[in-house]
Amino acid sequence: MLKIAVLVSGGGTNLQAILDAQNRGGIVNGKVTCVISSKADAYALERAKQADVPGEVLLRRQFADQDSYDDALLALLERYQIDLVVLAGFMTIISNRVVGQYQNRIINVHPSLIPSFCGDGFYGLRVHEAVLKKGAKVTGATVHFVNEICDGGPIILQKAVGVLQDDTPEQLQRRVMEQAEWEILPQAISLFCQGKLDVAGNQVKIIGI
Ligand code: GAR
Repeated sequence: MLKIAVLVSGGGTNLQAILDAQNRGGIVNGKVTCVISSKADAYALERAKQADVPGEVLLRRQFADQDSYDDALLALLERYQIDLVVLAGFMTIISNRVVGQYQNRIINVHPSLIPSFCGDGFYGLRVHEAVLKKGAKVTGATVHFVNEICDGGPIILQKAVGVLQDDTPEQLQRRVMEQAEWEILPQAISLFCQGKLDVAGNQVKIIGI
């Protein structure tokens, strides 16, 4: 059974989708064993508590520099003997040092179809605002491995979601979550935990499909 850490910063609806999938047997060979939040008041911590999962708070500003923050994050991951790190709305940048230590063992969910509407400055509601401003007719979500390039790692799963004419950013965000993120994130985690993701360069092959 692989041990999973979910890193969060906000509401934690993606964390909830993972926990719900786990309860239905949808995460094969994996278990969420800790939740790490970059904010002390993130509602995601409440969700962790209700699911009996230990919650930890790690504030970037409590550390003098990147190196000491990384030390603390790596120590936490080691303490829980984590096999897979899941960024689920985690708004603190993961340094190259941490990425290097967990090569192809960190995955992120992004609320657009990468390579559109991603990279520096594209997070949360801003992504959906940009989609609407551009007039795109289709958006969606992407689950990918994290590498040194912001939102640039190998893509595991994507799902498209239609943009409706009168969508507000909030409505679009909700639909992308419901129809894409909450589905493909648990699915990608389960594939990883079963050893079904074969990474070669920037391509991910799913074994057995
Ligand atoms: C989600 O839409 C997630 O894709 C996004 O933040 C939201 C977190 O919601 N992440 C990013 O924008 C990362 N670039 P949640 O806390 O309810 O899961």
